[in-house]
Amino acid sequence: MFIDYRNLFSEINHYIKLDNGKVVKTINFDNAATTPPFKYVMDNIQYFSSYYGSVHRGVGYKSNICSNLYEESREAILKYFMAPNDEYTVIFTKNTTEGINKLSNRLIYNKDDVVLSSYMEHHSNDLPWRGKCNLDYIEIDRDGRLSLESLYQKLEYYNGRVKYVTLTGASNVTGFINDIYMISEICHNYGAEIIVDGAQMVPHKKICIKNDNRAAAIDYLVFSAHKMYAPFGIGVIIGKKKAFDAGDPDCKGGGTVKFVTKEEVIWEDVPLKEEAGTPNFMGVVALISSLKVMEYLDIDIIERHERELTAYLLYNLNKREYISIYGSTKMDKDRLGIVSFNMKGLHHEKVAEMLYKYYGIEVRSGCFCAQPYVQRLLKISQKEIEYYKNNLNYPKPGMVRVSFGIYNTKEEVDYFISALDYINGRYNYFNKF
Ligand code: ALA
Repeated sequence: MFIDYRNLFSEINHYIKLDNGKVVKTINFDNAATTPPFKYVMDNIQYFSSYYGSVHRGVGYKSNICSNLYEESREAILKYFMAPNDEYTVIFTKNTTEGINKLSNRLIYNKDDVVLSSYMEHHSNDLPWRGKCNLDYIEIDRDGRLSLESLYQKLEYYNGRVKYVTLTGASNVTGFINDIYMISEICHNYGAEIIVDGAQMVPHKKICIKNDNRAAAIDYLVFSAHKMYAPFGIGVIIGKKKAFDAGDPDCKGGGTVKFVTKEEVIWEDVPLKEEAGTPNFMGVVALISSLKVMEYLDIDIIERHERELTAYLLYNLNKREYISIYGSTKMDKDRLGIVSFNMKGLHHEKVAEMLYKYYGIEVRSGCFCAQPYVQRLLKISQKEIEYYKNNLNYPKPGMVRVSFGIYNTKEEVDYFISALDYINGRYNYFNKF
């Protein structure tokens, strides 16, 4: 079945005038950072703007509509991710980063609690845990995949003391996908719970929180809507209800309490207790609308389309000796539509700048908020790290990244490859000697 994904968006490509006077259509290959909104999302935002009122804070027509839809949305999200509502709750946050910060604030009661993160995380699943617990990192292998051997070793070493294993579902640098269900089973066998950072995975792969295999259930899932065609600043934690019963919320204020006196506070039940301030109703509308589109489209078909594009890109990059690809050079089964590379002889920032300046192609370059992982993949020595640390203004090492969304096409990949060839031929002095 042919699906014209571009019809789902109002405008993907824009005509821009380049410095040389040429007019080109922009191409967006930076979907791991953020995605354009679905038309359906924007239509619903427009529709609900005339009903927009205060969630949980008013009595009246608009307030009732918004409060009901806001609460019903939690149920829709639990259903989408197959999370039983007697056990799991949905807490709305600003994004994945805020969600993981909340988990690190709310789940850790003791600085000795052991948490395992990994060397393949982006900063948002690393920095929030630092200083709050006994944090250790699961190793990666030579290509940058999670080492299951290291996971086992750490779990054995801590001998039942690991409380949480917090892992990305898929890397925003190499696209490597972790087998979260198998890892979950391993963690549960050692008495640890699993937190999945779903920022990259959720828009591209179906995630099931709990099915018949209870041992493989995901305990916590965190993700952002803006990477899933739904801007307006909403993120989600799906997590075990009971984990938030005890303790005070990390962010306090309106909406979090049942009763307050000068001396005492009785907190609301979960999840309201965890959502201080006026809720982001429009964010929730956007997210729910996006989930409806994803469901209608069938995420397995989306996955297949993005895999085809990635395989095509890798095939073309592999043919060019001036390109070094990081992670795997193949379209492995455990990979999303993300490819990070460098052009030999040209700094990554320069490549990204020229792709845009001469071709209107938008990519991300640098370390993608995952500096320790990128340092490992680039094999940067400790001495070099010290050097960059002491020379913060010096151009840093990094990579160029292409990350696909559902609307990208093979023709765009062809255009991108011809742009790389041109840049390499025209500007790469590495070639000339
Ligand atoms: N999630 C951000 C990106 O990969 C860090 O662009």
